[in-house]
Amino acid sequence: MSTTAVFGHPPLALADVPAGAVQTSPLVPGSQALEAFAPTSLAEIVMLAPPATVERRGALAAALKALSPEGRLIAMAPKDKGGTRLAGDLALLGAAFNESAKRHHRICHVRRPADLAAVDAAMAESAPREVEGLGRTQPGIFSWDRIDAGTALLLSKLPAFKGPGADFGCGIGLLANKVLESAAVTTLALVDIDRRAIDAARQNVTDARATFHWADLRGTEPALADLEFVVMNPPFHDAGAEDRALGQVFIRRAAGALKKGGTCWLVANRHLPYEAVLGEHFKAVNLQGEAGGYKVYEARK
Ligand SMILES: C[S@@+](CC[C@H](N)C(=O)[O-])C[C@H]1O[C@@H](n2cnc3c(N)ncnc32)[C@H](O)[C@@H]1O
Repeated sequence: MSTTAVFGHPPLALADVPAGAVQTSPLVPGSQALEAFAPTSLAEIVMLAPPATVERRGALAAALKALSPEGRLIAMAPKDKGGTRLAGDLALLGAAFNESAKRHHRICHVRRPADLAAVDAAMAESAPREVEGLGRTQPGIFSWDRIDAGTALLLSKLPAFKGPGADFGCGIGLLANKVLESAAVTTLALVDIDRRAIDAARQNVTDARATFHWADLRGTEPALADLEFVVMNPPFHDAGAEDRALGQVFIRRAAGALKKGGTCWLVANRHLPYEAVLGEHFKAVNLQGEAGGYKVYEARK
């Protein structure tokens, strides 16, 4: 049987995902990396292409490389999230395609190009690398090439922790390395939904007290209990409804993982309504700092 793949969760109304297609998005824990498939090994790939340019081109390129010469890539994206740029990306990659529009998406049926020079270049451009001051990182990871202002504020406020703790949405591990400066910390669970972030964090955080969990905090993994502390810069930034809901999940998960008296340190955009959620799940909530549009809270269970 030929191997087929899917990247992300393309809307069912826009394309049939072959039964048994292997999930390849780095944002789906447990999936396989598209770039790890042998060249020409895939008969079909259906892709909901990522919104960010370098990441989208890299994903399209990895799909084309993995595709067999007779194979087919169906790539789509909402018009306002990269869809209108799909055609330009595919032309740049040297691939032949037909484009159509449906339900606010652009949809391209694409063939593998014979010359893979542009494909290889796009894959290299989106590959992991070292960035001075950050360590290992990769386009597509949150704030991949600079320290986020919220993260910087939280870094400047974190106290010296003790005992077991967790870093929710750890990214490349900046908060984790700060936390592990305290010798009294016994374990630190780094959790992120993005495989690229977890891979980078493994290389940036070499302390034996750290464990790494490629997981969606909306689920029940990893099982965490009786922690002394949780640190987080939750995905609040875009201020969309989805981000707010995610932030609330992070806060609830932190409250569930902490022991009585344990603390959650978090930074968030100061315009967002997080006080109510914190107040619901924690006994005491203290503002520990505010700058550049961000607030840092310490919430005690
Ligand atoms: C605002 S970033 C913070 C990253 C890092 N802690 C820092 O401060 O640079 C939020 C992180 O949460 C991760 N994330 C988003 N949704 C998640 C989920 N449902 N489960 C686990 N991690 C998630 C993102 O991949 C991202 O790395």
